[in-house]
Amino acid sequence: MIKIKAFAKINLILDLLGKRADGYHELRSVMQSVSLYDLITLKKNNLGVIQLTANKEITGNPEDNLAYRAAALFFTRLKKSDLGVDIYLDKNIPLAAGLAGGSADCAAVMAGLNKLFAANLSQRDLADLAATLGSDIPFCLSGGTMLAEGRGEKLTPLPFLGSFHGLLLKPPFPISTAKVYQAVPKNKVLSPAQNIPELYWRGGLRLDELQNNYRNELYLYAREIEPQIAVFLAEVKETKPAVCQMSGSGPTIFAFYLTKKERNKALDQLKAEEVYGMETLPHGLEFSII
Ligand code: C5P
Repeated sequence: MIKIKAFAKINLILDLLGKRADGYHELRSVMQSVSLYDLITLKKNNLGVIQLTANKEITGNPEDNLAYRAAALFFTRLKKSDLGVDIYLDKNIPLAAGLAGGSADCAAVMAGLNKLFAANLSQRDLADLAATLGSDIPFCLSGGTMLAEGRGEKLTPLPFLGSFHGLLLKPPFPISTAKVYQAVPKNKVLSPAQNIPELYWRGGLRLDELQNNYRNELYLYAREIEPQIAVFLAEVKETKPAVCQMSGSGPTIFAFYLTKKERNKALDQLKAEEVYGMETLPHGLEFSII
């Protein structure tokens, strides 16, 4: 049996470079793992089937769930149709929230099965397999601080951003990633001024350095679809964070504070909302083999 912590991600930078012929958007993003996690348990079974259960209701067909699809794809890749696994998802990361919750589960199942069945697929093989299921999944396999390009699957490791005390506020509505991207004008191009700030290549940023070096171009389009996001962003800003922005395609907002005490005070101020305390992390998955 193996248990895996699958950590959420945030986007410190998300620049759009334009629309591609395959319908996806070319992007350049600095992604960062944070300590909010789903706990995934994998247990071999002798039934030759994939059984998926969770602490929350699995909406829709279980076979469409990313965690199930990850296991099915992994077994197909090994060319072993007789293998079976029980997957239990203890979910904490909100869904359709811009935090890659579903992608993190998917990465955890793939990397976990690789260990459980001693399949020895390389990190590269796993990432290639993962990219066929979603743009954020290759990042979730490694995590930490990374530059993501292409549709999000081309990764370059960056030095660890540094440890920050933060929180996540999830507004009470989901947002479809596809819908947000659909709102981006077809002729969108990157302005020449937009480079990834040098500080990210150095790593170990101070909070005041991070303060002037974060942005998310998807915010504008997410706000067009759900104007209420601006209200929640303003609510977080009232707690005087040093850094505050929507993550990914939204609607979750992340914020960082100078001290843990300030962060905890902000959590208290925002307690009427769905909020989570979090810290930045240098990896995306943690395994314990039982
Ligand atoms: O790859 P993933 O399934 O996470 O993407 C969900 C949707 O978001 C895609 O179907 C696509 O419409 C949009 N998308 C995009 N460009 C990206 C990533 C996602 O247009 N780089």
